[in-house]
Amino acid sequence: MYGVELMLLLSMATVCAGRGGSVAERNASYWLQQAQHQLATRLERMRDAGVGDMHMAKNVIMLLGDGLSITTHTAARILKGQYGGASGEESQLAVESFPYSGFSKTYCTDSQTADSACAATACLAGIKTNYGSIGQSEQGTHVNSILQWAQMAGKATGVVTTTRLTDASPAAAYAHVKQRSQELDIARQLIEELPGRQLDVILGGGLGKFASERKDGRDLVQEWLQANPDGCFARSLDSLHACSERNGSLLGVFSDNHMAYHLAAPVDQPRLKDLTAMAIERLAEQSNYGYFVFIEGGRIDHGHHETRAGYALDEMLEFDAAIETAMQLTDSRETLIVVTADHSHTLSMSGDAMRGTPILGLDESQRDLDGVPYSTLNYALGKWQSLNKDGKRENPAPFLSKTSYTPSYIRAKGAHSGEDVAIFAQGPQSHLFSGVMEQNLLPHLMAYAACLGQGVTLCNDPH
Ligand SMILES: *[C@@H]1O[C@H](CO)[C@@H](O)[C@H](O)[C@H]1NC(C)=O
Ligand SMILES: *[C@@H]1O[C@H](CO)[C@@H](O)[C@H](O)[C@H]1NC(C)=O
Ligand SMILES: [Zn+2]
Repeated sequence: MYGVELMLLLSMATVCAGRGGSVAERNASYWLQQAQHQLATRLERMRDAGVGDMHMAKNVIMLLGDGLSITTHTAARILKGQYGGASGEESQLAVESFPYSGFSKTYCTDSQTADSACAATACLAGIKTNYGSIGQSEQGTHVNSILQWAQMAGKATGVVTTTRLTDASPAAAYAHVKQRSQELDIARQLIEELPGRQLDVILGGGLGKFASERKDGRDLVQEWLQANPDGCFARSLDSLHACSERNGSLLGVFSDNHMAYHLAAPVDQPRLKDLTAMAIERLAEQSNYGYFVFIEGGRIDHGHHETRAGYALDEMLEFDAAIETAMQLTDSRETLIVVTADHSHTLSMSGDAMRGTPILGLDESQRDLDGVPYSTLNYALGKWQSLNKDGKRENPAPFLSKTSYTPSYIRAKGAHSGEDVAIFAQGPQSHLFSGVMEQNLLPHLMAYAACLGQGVTLCNDPH
């Protein structure tokens, strides 16, 4: 339907290509049209192949693992099995029962490798933008996220994360800023603007950005409570449970900064699966038209940045438990669940380790050229190289634990990597999420399935 216009845009893209993306790519319309074109092509291909169902998704649950690379999947699966005393490789993560999976291409308009800001803008607002920007095109045009599309369709909406609520991934659900570091403004947008102020459930960390760290002296939690007289504000697992007695909107902020890693958390900090259960139960009661909820396992990424694979994998298993909770609490005939990542990380699983090798330990059967053993997991980029005074690798054995640094090769902070990430889907229209796709197609596919937004949907599709 956008054929001629798109051809024009694509030819411009070729002419203008150089360092960075094309000039056309800086415009939000380019990506919105490109996604609608890809959606149409995909629908046609599925129809030709006779694949798919005709059910509408009443509810959509999008679960995002920040920095959840394929290696993280595999290694966490093994760790899950090994926690249970098994060899590990044959273990299963919750998403393995999903019927469809695919890959998404995560590059941004000016970067081969994404950050969470541009990637989450693709996942939630349907456009690619530049590194660091949230909810707006490279030119600065604001775009609505799928949460706003859902609110316009009368659905209840929620945002859940283990990071600060104002961190890049959750911010892409409701905010518009040029730079992700503008977190005080992001917090203000959450409380004051749409879709933020109409969210039914907001659960995560980062209280500082709402009160104590503010330079304008405002207390945004108090302001939220004034605007939501029926609302319930929770600071801990107990007060979250106490909120289930009440009916109105729910705001839970469980830490001043990011929530603690599960391995280091105080007992009164809720787990991601607790937040997931609370959000789904609350949202299901809130509207007869269903709900859209964004749930992030946000600290997988932080474990990787610190090159502490044990933290990253444990956070991944927390995310896995949240996915399992979402599956248990919903009916796959009316709820679409989409699980994906924003970008990858440089964790590798290398060598020829024997079956059952401890995934956070050494590959005992192998040696490097100096006869020193190496760990199965390593990072391509990171700060801990395990070198001795002579610049030779030292045996990492004494240092490896669930919370220690995992060896890495080049002195720097751990960094994202640019390869594709996985998508898993279950429920109505989940067949659309297979194959390889641009990351910004994701919200358009969810919108098609749930009849949201301004593009083609299951409800207005002429076919
Ligand atoms: C973006 O593209 C659209 C459609 O091609 C055009 O109407 C609009 O003016 C462009 N926006 C900017 C800021 O250049
Ligand atoms: C909560 O909502 C239910 C159903 O709408 C209603 O029956 C109940 O009275 C409400 N409870 C409170 C405390 O408002
Ligand atoms: Zn990161």
